[in-house]
Parts: sequence; C-alpha cells; structure tokens
Amino acid sequence: MKKTGWLRTSVVASVSAAALTMGMSATAVAADKGTVSVLNWWTSGSEAKSMHVLQQMLADQGYKMVNDAVSGGGGSNARTVLKSRIQSDNLPGAAQIKGPEIQQWCQTGLTQNIDSVAKAGNWSKILPGPIAKGMQCDGHWVAVPFNIHRINWLWINKAAMKKAGADMPTDWPSFVDALKKLKAAGITPIAGGGDNWQVATEFDAIAMATGGADFYRKAFVDLNAEALSSDTMAKAFSRLRTIQKYEDPNGTGLSWNHDTGLVVKGQAGIQIMGDWAKGEITNAGSTPGNEIACIAMPGEHDGFIYNADSFEIFSHTKSDKAAQDAFAKTALSPKFQRKFNMAKGSIPVREGVSLKGFDACAKKSEKDFKQAEKNNALVPSFSQDMAESGAVKGAIFDVIARFYNDKSMTPEAAAKQMASQAKQAHMMSQM
Ligand code: BGC
Repeated sequence: MKKTGWLRTSVVASVSAAALTMGMSATAVAADKGTVSVLNWWTSGSEAKSMHVLQQMLADQGYKMVNDAVSGGGGSNARTVLKSRIQSDNLPGAAQIKGPEIQQWCQTGLTQNIDSVAKAGNWSKILPGPIAKGMQCDGHWVAVPFNIHRINWLWINKAAMKKAGADMPTDWPSFVDALKKLKAAGITPIAGGGDNWQVATEFDAIAMATGGADFYRKAFVDLNAEALSSDTMAKAFSRLRTIQKYEDPNGTGLSWNHDTGLVVKGQAGIQIMGDWAKGEITNAGSTPGNEIACIAMPGEHDGFIYNADSFEIFSHTKSDKAAQDAFAKTALSPKFQRKFNMAKGSIPVREGVSLKGFDACAKKSEKDFKQAEKNNALVPSFSQDMAESGAVKGAIFDVIARFYNDKSMTPEAAAKQMASQAKQAHMMSQM
C-alpha cells in the first residue's frame, strides 16, 4: 500500500518541524517503497547509533524510516508527544511502548494487527513466552520487541576503585565500604540522582537486592499492600538514603548518559543503571567488563529485573503498511538483533542468536537471564514501565521522589505511602 507523495511529504515535514522545535534528531533516508515514522526516546549517542542500524537496513530494502526521537530518559516526553499526535491526526507508524501500556493502547482501537508478519516469522517460537504474550492483544500481535535490557547493574570504574583502595563489592556492607573509600579519595562515589526516573531506577535495583524476586513481584506486580508497606520496603528506602549521601549534590538535572560519561572518565566511581549505560560505555571507546566492571546490584538476593523495548504498530497513520511490516520483520531478523543489541547494550530478544563478538557483560546478562528464568527470579521492571501502567507507576515514582527530596521523611513513612498511593492510583485507573 503506497501513499501519495503529499502525504509522505507531510509526515517528513511535520516530524522535521517537531524535531527542530524540540531539539530532536530526525533523519530521512531516500527510498521509494514506503515510509514509516518511528516515535522513540533514543537520543543518546549509543541509542541514536542503534536506531540508525534499523534505518539503514530498511533503506537497503527500499523503505524510508523517519527517526522521530524525543529526548528524555525513560520516555515521559515521548509519551506526551504521542498523545498530542493523536490530537493532530498525525500518529506515527510505530511508537516505543512497553509493558501493560501495550494493552492499553490496543484498547483505543488505534493499533494495527501484524499477525501476518508474526506468523511468517514464527514469532511465537523465537520469542521467550512472557515477552511474546506481552506483544499480543485480544489474540493479535500488535507490537514487536527489540531486546532485553537488565536493570539491576552496577557500572564500576576499576581504575577509580584501585586509586581509592576499594574492593569490588560482593554484598551491601562491602558496597558501602567501597563508596566510603571513593569519597575519601576525592572521587564522586555514585553518578546519579539527576531526575526522578534515575532515582526510581536506582530504587528498582535496590528493592530487588534487598527483598528478592518474590517480594518484588508481590509489591510491584501484584501491588500487595503488605509487601508495599513492609519492613523490607522500608529497608530498601533506608538503603536509598545511604546511596543518596554518596551522590554528587550538584548532580540534579544531569542526564543518565552524562553520568555514565563521568564513570567512564573516572570522575565518578559507580553508576547504578540499566545496561543501556553499556551502550554509552562502548560508544565512548571503553570495554564493558574490562575498564568498566559490571556486577549485579549487591544485597541479600540475586535475580534479573528485565525491560524489553518494544514498538507498537499504529493504524490511522500516514505511514505505509508495507514499510510498517518491513520495520517489524527487520527488527527481529538475526542480523539486526546482533548489530542493534551490540550497540544498544542489551541482549537479543530473539532466541538462538549468537553472542559471538558481544562483550563480557552481555554474556553475563544472558547467563543470568537463563539462570533467573530457571529459579523463578525473573521480574518485570517497575521503573521501566514493565510491571504497571502509567498512573500506578507515576504514584510509585512520586513517593520515591518525595522521599529523596525530603530528608526528614523516614523510610517507614515512605513504605506506608507507597502502599496507600499505589492502591489509590490503581483504584482510580479502574474507574
Ligand atoms: C529504555 C532504554 C533506554 C533508556 C534511556 C529505558 O526506558 O528501555 O532503551 O535506553 O530508557 O533512555
């Protein structure tokens, strides 16, 4: 299905205009078999590079991909743009949407069924079960996954640790000991705390290490009030307070990728962040696993908090159906899965793709993913929209931010608020 020239021009023009006003990058590659505009929040160096892989692979097949990227870690700005594009009747051909929000968008009737692409590509066989399920709605495929990111990581500059005389942490006390030593050596112990999304991402990793997978699921997936207000949750908050003491007090407003840069340069010792940080480390010329160590967030419990980036496909769009199908098909091709994930810091979501040439941290991620799958220790990330829909996630984020910004708030009070706010937001979202 090929649209008329003026329609295609208007897609490119509106995206470019939006890009100029919002400081985004929009690149178009010449092609004539059809166009797909793709709304996403991948604007850091490594993220843009990863997206370019897809743009190029589509161009090679004769399709034009308009990369409609909106800055803002975690995607809150991109979500606002998506909503405003419904009002201006300018829905993208595909948009970065994850977790339960995939189902919510599907209920609007604005999404497109891509069953034929999924069937031809055998998606139900090549994707892990829970991920395949999340891409379907009312029995139809409406979204395509790209990758698996892990959230509960520490990225550690080995030279900075050596300079400070600190050992690699193996549990919570040795982690705090390393932070003390980094501080004494005049190195910012933790790069982070720039915005609510970053703090929530840190808390995500801490909660898992403190309470384990069963606790995590009860609290953030089932919204069990007892788990949310428990002593374990209070302990996680008290650990966040400890972490906060070791963050740069002037770091407010700094982006996650800026913070990764501080760790790469040795100006900070450690970052608690999902493995998109690994994409930045590689992009800066460092090797994850060598100069920058990766270890799972230490605590009493192991486990794997996952985040699968995915794109929902829209109908009522000016994008061409053939280009949308090519987008979905190419994203799950073994070639794209290798090239994209190598640049992005994640691991392939398609099963059976070789990790030959990937760094040691990607290999550890895959191994830990499989182990966690076996041990029932695989959980969907609440901070990256994988566990709860927008309103509930927003309520949880608000409590974490309130606690972070108000040093007089006790961990116990924060845990109690977490339970009441999440319950209220959940009830409101059901009305
Ligand atoms: C996304 C990652 C992205 C990160 C920072 C996360 O929510 O899943 O793909 O790199 O945000 O932008």
